[in-house]
Amino acid sequence: MNNVNPLNEPNTISAEYGIVFLIGYMGCGKSTKAKQLAHRLDCPVIDLDAEIVAKTGKTIAEYFQEFGESAFRNYESEMLKTFPYPKSCVVATGGGLPCFFDNMDWMNEKGETVYLQMAPAALVSRLHNRQKRPLIKDLNDEELLTFIKLKLAERDPFYTRANLIVDAFDLDGEKLEEALKTKN
Ligand code: S3P
Repeated sequence: MNNVNPLNEPNTISAEYGIVFLIGYMGCGKSTKAKQLAHRLDCPVIDLDAEIVAKTGKTIAEYFQEFGESAFRNYESEMLKTFPYPKSCVVATGGGLPCFFDNMDWMNEKGETVYLQMAPAALVSRLHNRQKRPLIKDLNDEELLTFIKLKLAERDPFYTRANLIVDAFDLDGEKLEEALKTKN
């Protein structure tokens, strides 16, 4: 490789990838990796769940409790499609978002979709704070593992329609940027 970057710092001249949507199951690290990648690409980061919280004044758990999952899915789809994205940005999406309505088609049409793939056992070990995640808040580790396996079987047909699938275990912004670069 001739592009040596010993300090592991963002490139001074960043490539343009348009809107990069990070998708994947809860706990795979979408928010953290979105921040790292945006830093490297020197572009804004948008977290759609955080935008929903900011706009509604409710946490995701409160929203689910008050209005139910179906209302939440409508709201998140509307947020996805109406957000005023800058030309280049990295977007962290909620884990269920790609699996409802035509959200996956919409994202594939508007930008690059990247599936941060992670095995169920690794996801369980990363999902310590479950209270803020209404779908899994009452599950112990064993129940969570069963739940994730079932959910991933349902969701993988949507997730795997991403333009790029990367192994999210041990991933960082640099590896993610490299994967994007190699794909293009
Ligand atoms: C959900 C994932 C959550 C949030 C909501 C539902 C899901 O986002 O949108 O609790 O259905 O997988 P994160 O993936 O950011 O935790």
